[in-house]
Amino acid sequence: MRRLAELFQRNRDWAARQTAADPEFFQRLSRLQAPGYLWIGCSDSRVPANQIVDLAPGELFVHRNVANLAVHTDLNFLSVLQFAVDVLGVAHVIVCGHYGCGGVRAAAQGQRLGLIDNWLRHVRDVHDKHAASLASLPEGVREDRLCELNVIEQAWNVSQTTVVLDAWARGQTLAVHAWVYGIGDGLLRDLDVTIEGLAGAEERYFDALRKIGVAV
Ligand code: CO
Repeated sequence: MRRLAELFQRNRDWAARQTAADPEFFQRLSRLQAPGYLWIGCSDSRVPANQIVDLAPGELFVHRNVANLAVHTDLNFLSVLQFAVDVLGVAHVIVCGHYGCGGVRAAAQGQRLGLIDNWLRHVRDVHDKHAASLASLPEGVREDRLCELNVIEQAWNVSQTTVVLDAWARGQTLAVHAWVYGIGDGLLRDLDVTIEGLAGAEERYFDALRKIGVAV
């Protein structure tokens, strides 16, 4: 018996609907992918990248991990970024976090969940870096603020990779964005980081921190 038969049935139905709506759809995609954007988001099942921005297959290159981290030594993330920037030539890298992120909450509360604690240590580092600012906020908003801070820090990390620095050095148009998604309303917020080159990068980062009320 085929395992997970329901998912295969759903797949056949989906493929049939796509073909009915656009008979050339799969043939076109099999020839080429030319996405304009790289999405770096959380693995959370409630934050499906393509659906949130209503983009079809072929339009969004996606990397997801728990708590949408851009870690300088993560070969998986770096490989996705390098391929997207150098080979696909995307013009935008979007780091998208979300409110109510379980990874951010676990890091903030120092929960012990297992191996993943080591990965979430990167979020804890963000928390500790801005501990004084976070402590000065009312308790009810601290977690949302840390979700935003984490995205800003990861966008900064993306902007400091050799991949992005080299792209800018050779004159490639490339912008790094920091967004947050609201699971409760389905809406995206732009945290106004948008780093478009080495010049002004630091100012964009500090401006973004100030805009969310974090002292720098
Ligand atoms: Co999350």
